[in-house]
Amino acid sequence: MSPEMVNIAYLIASVLFIFGLKGLTHPRTAVRGNFLGALGMLLAVVVTLIQGNLSFTLIFAGILVGSAIGVLLATKIEMTAMPQLVAVFNGFGGAASVLVAGAELSNTFSEPGLQTAVAIVLSGLIGAVTFWGSMVAFGKLQGIKMVPDQPVRYPGEQIVKVLLLLGSLALGAVVIGDYTAVSSYWWLVLAASVLGVLLVIAIGGADMPVVVALLNSYSGLAAAATGFVLSNSVLIVAGSLVGASGLILTNIMCKAMNRSLANVLFGGFGAVQTTSSADDVYGGKVKSTSPDELAMLLDGASRVVIVPGYGMAVAQAQHAVRDLYNILEANGITVEFAIHPVAGRMPGHMNVLLAEADIPYDKLIEMDAINPTMQQVDIAIVLGANDVVNPLARTDPESPIAGMPIIDVDKARTVIVIKRSLSPGFAGIPNPLFAAENALMLFGDGKKMMQESVTALKEG
Ligand code: TAP
Repeated sequence: MSPEMVNIAYLIASVLFIFGLKGLTHPRTAVRGNFLGALGMLLAVVVTLIQGNLSFTLIFAGILVGSAIGVLLATKIEMTAMPQLVAVFNGFGGAASVLVAGAELSNTFSEPGLQTAVAIVLSGLIGAVTFWGSMVAFGKLQGIKMVPDQPVRYPGEQIVKVLLLLGSLALGAVVIGDYTAVSSYWWLVLAASVLGVLLVIAIGGADMPVVVALLNSYSGLAAAATGFVLSNSVLIVAGSLVGASGLILTNIMCKAMNRSLANVLFGGFGAVQTTSSADDVYGGKVKSTSPDELAMLLDGASRVVIVPGYGMAVAQAQHAVRDLYNILEANGITVEFAIHPVAGRMPGHMNVLLAEADIPYDKLIEMDAINPTMQQVDIAIVLGANDVVNPLARTDPESPIAGMPIIDVDKARTVIVIKRSLSPGFAGIPNPLFAAENALMLFGDGKKMMQESVTALKEG
């Protein structure tokens, strides 16, 4: 293939990536966006391999094996295990950068030039941090016993990390100064690997989704650096897109929790002392209800908003929710779903579960769009959500969720909260909503309560 043809193919692949990302910004166009991105990657990989003089048979065999693994992963992995899978993908991207840069350095027989030398060092450093950081994130999310879920803290931990970073940079300087110092490169990789483990082991399991988004960004930066090592423009473009989008996602998640990135990375969330105890908040004020009573209330409603949270995912209640939605809509009641950006434990968690249950996309309303209309809601059903509807975020500046935007369910005429007990959510604090005048608690498993309410509606 002529260099012009290769560059045109790379340009087309880059455009496909950008259109792919654009498509992924909306659920309706997400499948097409995903397809365009994958097409761009196929084009980029095939053209690169042809350029490397690989036979079509080998390329075809590689595509077959890769596709088989992809199909297996897509069909076998549970939706709730997606963050772990993404962590592994990120890690492998980082490892690939380390190995490619190392191989280039070993095969170089002449001075590589400053730009390439710096790119090799960056690939090794960021790639190794990404790989080992992602492996630890995977271990925490998967609940592997060897990797503690709690933040691992020890005296002088920040000093150890700074020393490791400085050591890696010093080794990098040696590599840049002398391209034959290949062993220095692998010492750098070792130091960066330890750094990757220490950085992520110090963060609690519950914050792993944010860490995975950040590591995703790192894997993109490592890939972009490797693009400079190989002088491969499409790798630079793809890596930069991943680096930037990972950073944007990290920022969105931090904002939605009203926490800074520094607080996530060095904070140790969940161990916060709260200002008010559960007894103060709930004492004698909580009213409970039953599926039959909920069915009666729903019978008289004209607009219902369902707010799903982490408990819906735990209970796998999305299909039962769909049954309730069907019955209510058939009875002429308007039903909408209010989606908080950090409901659940991963970005888009609720969207994915509700889409799996075939809830129409236009029924999923973002927090900012639904909040101004909450006063006109007859019944708000909070299904396994807690922090994302906790009014303390607005009223208690001492609360760990102070300032976090919430879904204003307390402004609806009646609020029904479905959960198993008065236990707190992720932030570990009581929720005054459960004791509010207009709130009724429906205690039980999310799926079971939904099913019983559907039965009661059918019988009524
Ligand atoms: P949470 O505040 O974590 O509350 C979930 C509630 O679900 C719990 O209080 C629990 O109460 C209930 N529950 C658990 N299993 C249930 C079941 N089988 N049936 C019914 N209810 C069940 O959830 P949320 O409101 O979705 O908020 C998410 C939290 O996670 C936020 O604090 C957010 O900052 C944090 N976070 C989110 C992300 C992303 S990207 N989504 C990432 C990191 C952190 P019971 O035990 O009483 O049933």
